Amino acid sequence: MEMSRSSFRLLLLGFLLVSSYAASDSVYDTFVQCLSNHSAPSHQASSIVYAQTNSSFTNVLRSYIRNERFNTSSTPKPLIIVTPSDESQVQAAIICSRDIGILLKIRSGGHDYDGLSYVSDIPFFILDMFNLRSINVNITDETAWVQAGATLGELYYRIWEKSSVHGFPAGVCPTLGVGGHLSGGGYGNMLRKHGLSIDHIVDAQIINVNGSILDRKSMGEDLFWAIRGGGGASFGVILSYKVKLVRVPEIVTVFRVEKTLAQNATDLVYQWQHITDKIDNDLFMRLLLQPIMVKSDNGSAKAQKSSKTVRETFISLFLGDATRLVSVMNKDFPELGLKKEDFMEMSWIESVLYWANFNNGTSVNVLLNRTLESEKYFKAKSDHVQKPISKDGLEGLWKKMIELGKTGWCSIHTEGE
Ligand SMILES: Cc1cc2nc3c(=O)[nH]c(=O)nc-3n(C[C@H](O)[C@H](O)[C@H](O)COP(=O)(O)OP(=O)(O)OC[C@H]3O[C@@H](n4cnc5c(N)ncnc54)[C@H](O)[C@@H]3O)c2cc1C
Ligand SMILES: *[C@@H]1O[C@H](CO)[C@@H](O)[C@H](O)[C@H]1NC(C)=O
Ligand SMILES: *[C@@H]1O[C@H](CO)[C@@H](O)[C@H](O)[C@H]1NC(C)=O
Ligand SMILES: *[C@@H]1O[C@H](CO)[C@@H](O)[C@H](O)[C@H]1NC(C)=O
Ligand SMILES: *[C@@H]1O[C@H](CO)[C@@H](O)[C@H](O)[C@H]1NC(C)=O
Ligand SMILES: *[C@@H]1O[C@H](CO)[C@@H](O)[C@H](O)[C@H]1NC(C)=O
Ligand SMILES: *[C@@H]1O[C@H](CO)[C@@H](O)[C@H](O)[C@H]1NC(C)=O
Ligand SMILES: *[C@@H]1O[C@H](CO)[C@@H](O)[C@H](O)[C@H]1NC(C)=O
Ligand SMILES: *[C@@H]1O[C@H](CO)[C@@H](O)[C@H](O)[C@H]1NC(C)=O
Ligand SMILES: *[C@@H]1O[C@H](CO)[C@@H](O)[C@H](O)[C@H]1NC(C)=O
Repeated sequence: MEMSRSSFRLLLLGFLLVSSYAASDSVYDTFVQCLSNHSAPSHQASSIVYAQTNSSFTNVLRSYIRNERFNTSSTPKPLIIVTPSDESQVQAAIICSRDIGILLKIRSGGHDYDGLSYVSDIPFFILDMFNLRSINVNITDETAWVQAGATLGELYYRIWEKSSVHGFPAGVCPTLGVGGHLSGGGYGNMLRKHGLSIDHIVDAQIINVNGSILDRKSMGEDLFWAIRGGGGASFGVILSYKVKLVRVPEIVTVFRVEKTLAQNATDLVYQWQHITDKIDNDLFMRLLLQPIMVKSDNGSAKAQKSSKTVRETFISLFLGDATRLVSVMNKDFPELGLKKEDFMEMSWIESVLYWANFNNGTSVNVLLNRTLESEKYFKAKSDHVQKPISKDGLEGLWKKMIELGKTGWCSIHTEGE
């Protein structure tokens, strides 16, 4: 009795597996047929569509999974992945998903905190934008057209190729995708001087649900406003943004300084909160808080023991030279006790590499590398503190961090541990 019941279950399971493959196969056939119907005859529709049964499917899917949390066998998989290489293929893919009635997830850099660009609880396709990544920088009018599938690193590189006195204010992790980053806001280390990425978008191209390509003029100011902060995927598929570049000095200055609780870190963090929004706008100071183990040696040989503390890392970009930074720090944050020797002057593009934690001397070409060393398993949230946290509040925070042990955000890029 037990036996036959379980073999019945097995059979049923086998049937479901077969039928889901069959369903995915027929969806694939219908989709490819539809794409062909909507594509120029020269386009081989099947060459941009990956069925689950295709031997490259898993590789293509994983290429832009940037969080191990969504790289498991139980993570829902798309029925197919479409990888268009021109805009007419994006138009066709949108129309065909709409007509077949399957949800389309749009992926650019794949850095979404919750895998929203490649995971869904209901059946879905992925529209993968990685082939659409051209960047046209025009130094004469200080703008660039950037396709959604480009990374921030590629954008910074292309600007650097043409000018040493231009940059763009956006995130510090070079593999972030333009499609998700710019539609969601985009903040980085020039935030205080230049605001968000979206403050510098002057035009865009989006394809709506009916497959029409719209620019700023034809989409209207309301939609243009929405895709600068409202998240792109709610409104259509963003093909590209036109951004206004910003001027950066030939020489910028960076520093990184670490303090533990024993080095008055609580007072410094407390003080930092009161000056960081008022100090010279050329200076951005990020604070990274992490619980760490320290070896304490109290003199006796076998008494070396490890204990936990919290380490504060101040990481900065100053849009000016070291001499001026000395006077800014002496005036508004002398408590940090920094001297000129603590500062390093470099070009803006070198500061991009420094912030992304590449070693001194690393070639700028690394910004074109889309492969990360390793993916991390993480859950992240961003919040904005409205009022300075009291010293008691900070001490409570340290206690919690020490109790929890390893936390550490963007350790992926700024700490590498
Ligand atoms: C390690 C890490 C570091 C980060 N650092 C920063 C930082 O310094 N500053 C900052 O502001 N943010 C930062 N973020 C957040 C990041 O900017 C967002 O997660 C952003 O949405 C990622 O864009 P993406 O294209 O890489 O992601 P994706 O996962 O591809 O997309 C994110 C969202 O946008 C949608 N989308 C993507 N492309 C398009 C398109 N072409 N048209 C319409 N919708 C689209 C997706 O469907 C999804 O909903 C960081 C995130 C991570 C994981
Ligand atoms: C494609 O076009 C052919 C010929 O017009 C039509 O018979 C077929 O139904 C279309 N298929 C899809 C999936 O749109
Ligand atoms: C997998 O899909 C790609 C893209 O459609 C195609 O070029 C390739 O031939 C397929 N490979 C196999 C083994 O079917
Ligand atoms: C996903 O998991 C596989 C198998 O464990 C591993 O080889 C691959 O590197 C992982 N990829 C990502 C993007 O994490
Ligand atoms: C760059 O911008 C200038 C000024 O708007 C324009 O005249 C020129 O044609 C543009 N160059 C390119 C290559 O688009
Ligand atoms: C798409 O087309 C339908 C039918 O013509 C129309 O009713 C709808 O408003 C269009 N949607 C958009 C976003 O343009
Ligand atoms: C810590 O801060 C206090 C008060 O600001 C100061 O008196 C003390 O010298 C500082 N200690 C160190 C180690 O900097
Ligand atoms: C050093 O640590 C050992 C072990 O924890 C302890 O027994 C000893 O009293 C400590 N000595 C001093 C000087 O604090
Ligand atoms: C990088 O290395 C060069 C050569 O070793 C050195 O001159 C320079 O000061 C270093 N720059 C930084 C920021 O460490
Ligand atoms: C890109 O980076 C990865 C991870 O660091 C590395 O393994 C690979 O060799 C790099 N590729 C190139 C072309 O430099």
